[in-house]
Amino acid sequence: MASVSTKRKRIGLMTGGGDAPGLNGIIESVVRSLDEQGCDVIGIRDGFDGIYNIDTVHLTPQIVLGAHARAGTLLGTSNKTRTRGREKEFQEKFRTLKLDGMIAAGGDGTFEGLSRVSDGLPLIGVPKTIDNDLAGTEVTFGYDTACAVVAEAADALRATAEAHKRVIVVEAMGRTAGWIALGGGLAAYADVILIPERPFSRERLLKHLADQRDLGRRGLIIVAAEGAAFEGESASIAFRVEGSPQAERFGGFAEMLSRWIEKELDWESRHVVLGHLQRSRAPTTTDRFLTLGMGMEVAQMVAENDWNKAVVFRKGQVTRAPLSDLMQPPRLVAGDHRWVKWAQGLKIFI
Ligand code: F6P
Repeated sequence: MASVSTKRKRIGLMTGGGDAPGLNGIIESVVRSLDEQGCDVIGIRDGFDGIYNIDTVHLTPQIVLGAHARAGTLLGTSNKTRTRGREKEFQEKFRTLKLDGMIAAGGDGTFEGLSRVSDGLPLIGVPKTIDNDLAGTEVTFGYDTACAVVAEAADALRATAEAHKRVIVVEAMGRTAGWIALGGGLAAYADVILIPERPFSRERLLKHLADQRDLGRRGLIIVAAEGAAFEGESASIAFRVEGSPQAERFGGFAEMLSRWIEKELDWESRHVVLGHLQRSRAPTTTDRFLTLGMGMEVAQMVAENDWNKAVVFRKGQVTRAPLSDLMQPPRLVAGDHRWVKWAQGLKIFI
């Protein structure tokens, strides 16, 4: 009688780029469902570094149990890909690890880095960013949680803004795409929402604020993306991160805006930068459902040997798409997006 092979597949799992709430949910969901199928999941630590340094951990259902409820990534991550010129080395290390395939959760930088080194290797991509601006999918996990952080902060800050008769500018993440400021700002019914896609005139904003004051408003809340800018001016860059696929780090816009408003209108103003709090909150239920579904779809793809694809969310469903769909230019907020219209309908300045 022919012997039946009982060799378990070895599947690598890597998280790359900035962390996003929900990464641990992907890890738990993938590990638990692949274990059911008789696969070993080899966790690769700290993004691409884990391959180059052969730094791995065997992920079992016991290890990942309960991880879905925590922010961060238990594998560690890095926003530096460092794959340029190291293509051969990557392929050699991948073979050393004896992987039958690899699942990578990352953003555009991670997939660009992978496309450089992964020629012929079996891969599955999982789109990830709190910025919600990855092409190929209608929403990314982590985004809902980031919006919740912004909305909670904006709602809370209203009390002190009104108590002191102040304008408070809340700075959200979002370098070229304003999804977080728009989603979080709308959820909090902010008075002004400023996003990179819609540079605004200084005069128009001042008039809007002055009109609000004439109407008797004591305090106002402005939610601004870090990449927002006045018409004809460039966004505020704080510093550069060498080795990062998108090296510029934005910062300073909210502070500059609040100083300017105070000077122009003689209306006391303060600013709050939410920064990495937006990435470090336990995922919302919406993000948990999304990562649960995506992880299970990934396991199904492994079972079917359906490689070199991405798992994406389209038309209310978790589904599959070519990996290259994630490597297109970022998905920005369109001028006629329904959320922009909702804001305008509420007389929010946008
Ligand atoms: O791309 C996600 C993001 O959170 C941006 O919104 C933000 O500008 C950037 O990462 C910050 O990156 P770092 O982790 O290097 O501070």
